[in-house]
Amino acid sequence: MQPTPDVLARAAALRTELHAHAHRYYVLDDPSVPDAVYDQLFQELSELEATYPSLKTADSPTQRVGAPALDAFQSVVHDIPMLSIRTETDTTTQGAVSFDTRIRKELELGPEAPPVTYAVELKFDGLAMSLRYEDHVLVRAATRGDGAVGEDVTRNIRTVGQIPLRLPPNAPSTLEVRGEVYMAREDFDKLNERQAAAAQKLFANPRNAAAGTVRQLDSGIAASRPLRFFAYSLAHQSGGGADRQLQTHAETLDCLREWGFPVSEWTQVVSGADGLSAFHARVQAARDSLGLDIDGVVYKVNSLAAQRQLGFVSREPRWAVAHKYPAQEALTMVNGIDIQVGRTGKLTPVAKLAPVFVGGVTVTNATLHNEDEARRKDVRVGDTVVVRRAGDVIPEVVSVVMERRPDHTEPFTMPHQCPICGSVALRFEEEADYRCTGGLVCGAQRKEALTHYASRKAMDIDGLGDKIVDALVESGRVKDIADLYRLSLSDIATLPRMAEKSAQNLLDALEASKNADLARFLFGLGIRHVGEATAKALVRHFGRLESIMNAPLDSLLAVADVGPVVALSIQTFFQQPAQRDMVHAIQALGVRWAEHDGLSDMAALPLSGVTVVLTGTLPTLSRDEAKALLEAKGAKVAGSVSKKTHYVVAGAEAGSKLEKAQALGVPVIDEAGLIQLLADTIGP
Ligand code: IVH
Repeated sequence: MQPTPDVLARAAALRTELHAHAHRYYVLDDPSVPDAVYDQLFQELSELEATYPSLKTADSPTQRVGAPALDAFQSVVHDIPMLSIRTETDTTTQGAVSFDTRIRKELELGPEAPPVTYAVELKFDGLAMSLRYEDHVLVRAATRGDGAVGEDVTRNIRTVGQIPLRLPPNAPSTLEVRGEVYMAREDFDKLNERQAAAAQKLFANPRNAAAGTVRQLDSGIAASRPLRFFAYSLAHQSGGGADRQLQTHAETLDCLREWGFPVSEWTQVVSGADGLSAFHARVQAARDSLGLDIDGVVYKVNSLAAQRQLGFVSREPRWAVAHKYPAQEALTMVNGIDIQVGRTGKLTPVAKLAPVFVGGVTVTNATLHNEDEARRKDVRVGDTVVVRRAGDVIPEVVSVVMERRPDHTEPFTMPHQCPICGSVALRFEEEADYRCTGGLVCGAQRKEALTHYASRKAMDIDGLGDKIVDALVESGRVKDIADLYRLSLSDIATLPRMAEKSAQNLLDALEASKNADLARFLFGLGIRHVGEATAKALVRHFGRLESIMNAPLDSLLAVADVGPVVALSIQTFFQQPAQRDMVHAIQALGVRWAEHDGLSDMAALPLSGVTVVLTGTLPTLSRDEAKALLEAKGAKVAGSVSKKTHYVVAGAEAGSKLEKAQALGVPVIDEAGLIQLLADTIGP
């Protein structure tokens, strides 16, 4: 049959796409699509080629398995080819039943014959490795490559602690062991943290990290990355202790263990299709707690004699199969990028996805975490992306399929305004997240903010706990603090599960809170970076709320312990008209506190305008005492030394602050000098 032009075009498109994906996967260790997607495209091409044999070109991706060795490594011809395993993609019990049925048929077992015994294992998601030992010493480690020719990666593999470099005397002297090199999940997470800290490229998953490490030309880098190994087969043994006649695969694994190779604890001998599917289910349930990535389980006929009888079809043994699990990654389209506002005001970019079935559920949202992550992945509206959902983990966008990016897309930028309340959103230095500065006026943060306002260290409003706050907000009766003071007895008493007595108590507590303390009120507003101590310092310095609300940055910076980040946070908060209106409304509803003139009284103090840094241990005064004495005279006690520091008071074991003072030429005094200073005998 001759292919139609449509079929010809489709086959060409599939070949091109598969070549591009294969290059990213095998050569660059940076796959552009999940394995399942690649398999599907590959399958489509294989089927077209089966129908129209003329499509089977020499360069078709179906004509080779794996990829040629990188130039930089020596090639290794495998004396015994490294095989692949047939994959059973039916992820239900049926997958196990089909394999068992096929084996029974091939072995010509009638319905009366006893169940077949299988050795079952994990299908590790790493990199196949062949280890050759001569005279008991590891002489060569080779990758699988295309199964016939691989790469010599001995130098890198010698750095893997779990791989024996020398075998015990009871082992055969010549041995070829096969297994999987992989990276455990916790090691992978740590490696990526290190990569991020060093501004290096992050790895997409543990498999890529393992593959990238094994193919490092610099084995020093390989040594610094934590690879592990599990042995799963014996390709050859001779000499030395090789008189052991092995009968089964399970015995082989026991020997490998005895000879010092790591063999997974997740190996078992089971019987019949029921045994296979029970193991499949048991591993599926434990999948997220295995500590390493797997993409299925492997079933192997246990009897080595039966294995020999079954033999091979092309590059795959008839006696083994890999039984898969539902894919945890899938491709879908990004229809939009929304911003979610959390209870603490954190803004999170979330990709809105075309619904896709992944990890057993339909996913329509995936988190992009924060601005840096969204930029690093460069996710744009219109992109095709890889979405991952493992276990109960929140779905996330793994990467963008750049090959499928449409024209005219726009890079994502974080909004500088809260989408809920319109307040300014700020990202503070050294923080990853943007935060809405709306606090009490922001609907998303309402409950959290009201609970904080009522808390013991803030306004201490008895009876206004989480549950009542939730009920008040959900009933729509309270939108901000001012609304609390507008509540009537019946507003509260009609809330679900609220007794009249407790309603009256709450109303009384609210009334009592009107007689307030400014520092507690200020702390209660929940301004980011303004804790109790800072609120007190602000009140001590400015005396009046209105002065704090209108303070320019430099005046804020003059307050003890207020640095640029805190000052910016306070200023931004009070620049929002909604915040100002709310504060004024609260005052109009009767909330009062005592005020004073602040620093203007203190300006007359002898040490006002003087900045002092304390360091080391003083002979008689504790640090807090020294600080209190200085502040009482109007001095500012700062945490670090700068050119603007007037004095450094140094005690025993003063460290870097003393050195810095000396370097900057700041006068250094001891406790006696401090006492003189306090006694006004020396001035600024
Ligand atoms: S046995 C006879 N056992 O799967 C087949 N392979 O498709 C020889 N793999 O590249 C392999 N876990 O890296 C075997 N428990 C396991 C395995 C396993 C993972 C990989 C192996 C190979 C691929 C074969």
